[in-house]
Amino acid sequence: MNSAIYPGSFDPITLGHLDIIRRAATCFDKVYVCVMVNCEKNSHMFSETERVALIRASVADIANVEVESWSGLLADYAVAKEAYVLVKGVRNATDFDQEYQMADINRGICPQLETVLLPASAQYRHFSSTMVREMIRYGQPMELYVPAPVAEELKRKGRA
Ligand code: PNS
Repeated sequence: MNSAIYPGSFDPITLGHLDIIRRAATCFDKVYVCVMVNCEKNSHMFSETERVALIRASVADIANVEVESWSGLLADYAVAKEAYVLVKGVRNATDFDQEYQMADINRGICPQLETVLLPASAQYRHFSSTMVREMIRYGQPMELYVPAPVAEELKRKGRA
C-alpha cells in the first residue's frame, strides 16, 4: 500500500491543513495524519486528545485518512506505520527552507523516508495555526479559518 504521513502540531487544524489532507488523500492509498506531541511548543490551545478528535471530525468524509498522535520522533512513527513518505504543505519560501532542512533531518534518521512538498492552495497561503489562534482571541468569524467541528467546539467553549 502506498501510504503517507502528514505530521504537525495542528493546534488547531486549519482549512489550509484540511486542504493539504484532501489533496494528499487523492495521491496516496492511505494518509496518516499524525499529531506530534512533545514538540518544543509547550502551551497549547487544544490538548492532544482534543486535537486528534477535532481532526477526526474534520476528515470524517475522507475514507483513506487515519488520525493518530505520536510523542516520539516522526521517523520512528514512519517505521512503525511502514509509511515512508512525509507530506508537508508549503506556503512560501520560509516554509520551503524549513521543510528542505527538515527533510534532510528526517532522511538522516531514516534514509528511506522521503518528503513530498505540496504547495499551499492560493486561498490558504496566509493561514497558520498561530494566526488562527490570534483571530480566535479577537473574536473573528472562525468559519473562515477552521473546519466546522473546530468552529463548533470553540463556540461550545464560549471562545468564538
Ligand atoms: O506543525 P509543526 O509544528 O510545524 O510540525 C512540525 C513537525 C513535527 C512536522 C516537524 O518538526 C518535523 O518534521 N519534525 C521531525 C523531527 C522530529 O521527529 N521531532 C520530534 C517531534 S517534534
